[in-house]
Amino acid sequence: MPELKNDTFLRALLRQPVPYTPLWMMRQAGRYLPEYNQTRAQAGSFMGLAQNPEYACEVTLQPLRRFDLDAAILFSDILTVPDAMGLGLQFVAGEGPRFERPLRDEAAIQALQVPDLDRLRYVFDAVALIRRELAGAVPLIGFSGSPWTLACYMVEGAGSSDYREIKTLLYRRPDLLHRILSVNAQAVQAYLNAQIQAGAQAVMVFDSWGGVLADGLFQQFSLAYTRQVLDGLVREREGRRVPVIVFTKGGGQWIEDIAAAGCDAVGLDWTANLAAARRRVGDRVALQGNLDPMTLFGGDAAIRAEVRRVLADFGPVGAGGHVFNLGHGISQHTPPEAVSVLVEEVHAASRAYHPG
Ligand code: CP3
Repeated sequence: MPELKNDTFLRALLRQPVPYTPLWMMRQAGRYLPEYNQTRAQAGSFMGLAQNPEYACEVTLQPLRRFDLDAAILFSDILTVPDAMGLGLQFVAGEGPRFERPLRDEAAIQALQVPDLDRLRYVFDAVALIRRELAGAVPLIGFSGSPWTLACYMVEGAGSSDYREIKTLLYRRPDLLHRILSVNAQAVQAYLNAQIQAGAQAVMVFDSWGGVLADGLFQQFSLAYTRQVLDGLVREREGRRVPVIVFTKGGGQWIEDIAAAGCDAVGLDWTANLAAARRRVGDRVALQGNLDPMTLFGGDAAIRAEVRRVLADFGPVGAGGHVFNLGHGISQHTPPEAVSVLVEEVHAASRAYHPG
């Protein structure tokens, strides 16, 4: 494998010195880019894109051609794992993801099994191809949903506004929910390890729906299973540590617990304050985040001001680590020019926080 030309992202995650704050964006490959929409039309559908390693590689690289980003993220989706478990994933245009066979009775839950990783071979093939095409330009991030977030989709059958189905299960039959979470934890661990074996240089766990749980239940039904995943991950490959990021949307109040779960970095949404977060966890982990994605609709002056505020909140980086990101995925309506302003401002304004 060629030597990494830009390793600022990996170094920041490991709290090593870097000349500026590296950045990437959640959903950086997506519908706000006209070239993405063109490739997606060619592929025929979202899954057609994700399941074809050449297309997946192409759309992974598209944002890097436009913007000076410090990491690439595998183009795929968190729902590939439940799809491989046989739940029948469909993306209905304009509606988002939907499962044909959600987990709605005890028999289906008892029958649930860790999928044969061969059914996810297209993901690992995409990772290997992207690594080859990146040729060491920037590191490649692999990812998975958290066991809890995957369970939400598996039980609800689609996105949800109130999580009524999964919470009914949680309060009525916690034993059954624990069974789903346990299978998911094993599956996610194997899935992430296979991505690392295929060439992913850092991995991120998306706990997008952890924030809908009550305090106490979050630790029991979400974080405990994320911790199980992390406990068995391959942490070193090609002579380098493979850092792990855990992002819990709405998880700001649990940052100490998340930082203690065995990750290298904690991702924060825009509602958290990085100065306060850093006071709470010290420099035990790096922090990733956390510009409100809607800032990108505010015009150049607002983007630059908000970038500077986020950098100032983290403060002089010192022995800590900061990876700049949005607090959640970029909106499909974002003007791409706004991203150019963001990238330029993060790279220029952050140098003052990395003396030497
Ligand atoms: O960040 C990246 O560029 C990598 C690709 C990526 C996608 N999904 C592509 C995608 C990643 C990391 C994800 C993760 C994902 N998927 C999450 C966790 C992150 C988060 O947003 O909280 C979740 C919850 C999903 C499930 C999912 N996939 C939803 C709810 C939707 C529909 C909503 C939407 O934005 O339309 C998807 C579809 C999806 N996954 C798209 C992309 C680019 C848009 C689909 C399209 O092209 O039609």
